[in-house]
Amino acid sequence: MDVDQFELERWFAEYEHDADVMLAESGVRSLHADRFDTDPGGLGYVIPTKGAADVRRAIADDHGVTAEQVVCTVGAQEANFLAFQSILSPGDHAVVVTPTYQSLHDVPDSICEVTRVPLDRPEAQGTDGGADWRLDVDAVADAVRPDTELVVLNNPNNPTGRKHDWEAVRALYDVAADADAFLLCDEVYRLLADDPLPSVASLGEHAISTASLSKVYGLAGLRFGWLVGPPDVVDAAERWKDYTTISPSAFGQHVARQVLDGQGHSLRQEALDHVRQNHEITAAWARGHGLEWPDPVGCNVFLRVPDGFAGSREFCRTVVEDAGVVLAPGDCFSAGGESYDDRFRLGFGLPTDELRDGLQRVDGVL
Ligand SMILES: Cc1ncc(COP(=O)(O)O)c(C=O)c1O
Repeated sequence: MDVDQFELERWFAEYEHDADVMLAESGVRSLHADRFDTDPGGLGYVIPTKGAADVRRAIADDHGVTAEQVVCTVGAQEANFLAFQSILSPGDHAVVVTPTYQSLHDVPDSICEVTRVPLDRPEAQGTDGGADWRLDVDAVADAVRPDTELVVLNNPNNPTGRKHDWEAVRALYDVAADADAFLLCDEVYRLLADDPLPSVASLGEHAISTASLSKVYGLAGLRFGWLVGPPDVVDAAERWKDYTTISPSAFGQHVARQVLDGQGHSLRQEALDHVRQNHEITAAWARGHGLEWPDPVGCNVFLRVPDGFAGSREFCRTVVEDAGVVLAPGDCFSAGGESYDDRFRLGFGLPTDELRDGLQRVDGVL
């Protein structure tokens, strides 16, 4: 397997440790462990290794499927990896909607040929706000070939914060199903929408959803996620998982059970209230600097690099070196001839006092 380095992770590795404010985290601020019972009892492997029946049932209920269609994983990262390994082989073809989280195109790219279909850039629509990053279902249909096995979407999208509507998602599913391919939708940000869409997994036997507790609940360190899909794909994913992590973590599953069974509703509401407040603060800040605000879903926004900087890496490097604030360069999302070097991703899910501090520091640079 020959896979490109994960640009954003390498950027974080370079700067995250020494910086004062992390304004590039893609999820909601972390919850403290004392919000949960943290004693799972025995620390053996989780049995069955695809996750306990009650936990899989809770996930299945939320996705409109049966528990047999769920395999629990170590984060959505593993869920996506297992899906790609289970479905794709050398000689196959995949279509990936971009820009997106790097592993969603680079892991498929390490296995087979990939066609990237970009979201319509806002400037092409005559708006510069990013409000548009529209999903062009026809362009995906044009990219699909007889050997296409998989179409990949991330909705709501990282890095743009764009939430594609249900009509577009259903149309994309039909494109995949008509080609006898799967639609995989990474839904790690789904429940950060005030009015979340149903899970793609509910659409039928060509649909796969991946997600986790990381982003919405502020529980990234639990490393608890899942893949939901047709039984054949779930079985293949389980066989691959024997070689990756064997089972989810016992701590992760213990806390996941508390979120999925009871506390989830109030924790999600808490997260939504927090994000709403930070959204207002960040929108006012961006507009104050003449940066168009696209009204993203979730807590990521993909803004234009301010005038006076050669590109996103120069801007973000200046901000971290002069002000101790980590932003994510849009260039980390560039791939296959598409450049996002004119953008940077700002994550506003962090604690509100840290957000205010971080924005004020960036003010100094601007
Ligand atoms: C779209 C997307 N998928 C997956 C992940 C990884 O999530 P997890 O922590 O659940 O592995 C991320 C993290 O940023 C992401 O943005």
